[in-house]
Amino acid sequence: MQGSEMAEGYMWYAGIPFPAQLYKPEDIRAAHEQFVVKDEDIIMVTYPKSGTHWLIEILCLILTKGDPKWVRSVNTYDRSPWIETESGNTTIVNRKEGPPLISSHLPIQLFPKSFFTSKAKLIYVIRNPKDVLISGYYFWRSTNLAKKPESLEQYFEWFLRGHVPYWSWFDHVRGWLSWREKENVLVLCYEEMRKDPRKSVEKICRFLGKALEPGELNLVLENSSFQALKENKMSNFSSVAKELVLNDFKITRKGITGDWKNHFTPAQTQAFEETFREKMAGLPPELFPWD
Ligand code: A3P
Repeated sequence: MQGSEMAEGYMWYAGIPFPAQLYKPEDIRAAHEQFVVKDEDIIMVTYPKSGTHWLIEILCLILTKGDPKWVRSVNTYDRSPWIETESGNTTIVNRKEGPPLISSHLPIQLFPKSFFTSKAKLIYVIRNPKDVLISGYYFWRSTNLAKKPESLEQYFEWFLRGHVPYWSWFDHVRGWLSWREKENVLVLCYEEMRKDPRKSVEKICRFLGKALEPGELNLVLENSSFQALKENKMSNFSSVAKELVLNDFKITRKGITGDWKNHFTPAQTQAFEETFREKMAGLPPELFPWD
């Protein structure tokens, strides 16, 4: 890898900054150009900090009908490997049995080309980008995965410009939302999942064509709750190598909606909303059901 590609903790590929510690250009290229998506695959895509780990937990538990044995014994990244990492790609390609779960943070233009002619089911989760920004700020400054922000002010600037890992939230979301009406795509919203987790799990089950008994549905909800995830070492980031994560950082920070209100200044709120209006112009406001 060239020094310039790794500048500032990022590996730039097709104009997108990826965390240099995790990605190599050839892995992104392999995911985009060679990876073969199968019709039976169940794919989860998010912009980071939108509820990725939560959705993976829910999907795994739906597939085990609420039985927590699997989520408590195998870590998230082996249950639903990332296509764009070398290890994730290898795990998926060599997988002989087990549920066909796949995860990704890739923007749509770098997603495996084979998906777009497949019948694989894909779930994309969106979250209020102001909360994504706050969650990302605490996350990236607690890991050695990419460039660490020195202050919230600095990260705020990076976020609005898209100079953050996995690129601009606005472009990532806009890109994926262009596929929202396809039969094999389901868009979920973190805020709605928080408000009514039961309804969200039922929606996912309908989309996947998986029926659960009421008791099984209760077990899915119980075992994917914020507290359950926080306590599950296989799901809360505890299994990530110590040199990559600082001070016992856990993915389950607060798990609430609207934390941005505790952080943004009025000027930041205004600047953010202007950018949002400009970048998301033309999209129906009901796609973004948050305040
Ligand atoms: P906060 O940092 O705002 O607390 P990702 O998995 O995409 O990295 O997203 C992490 C965010 O999802 C964190 O947000 C985390 O607390 C939240 N989260 C994780 N599990 C959750 C759950 N079971 N219920 C609600 N939020 C959850």
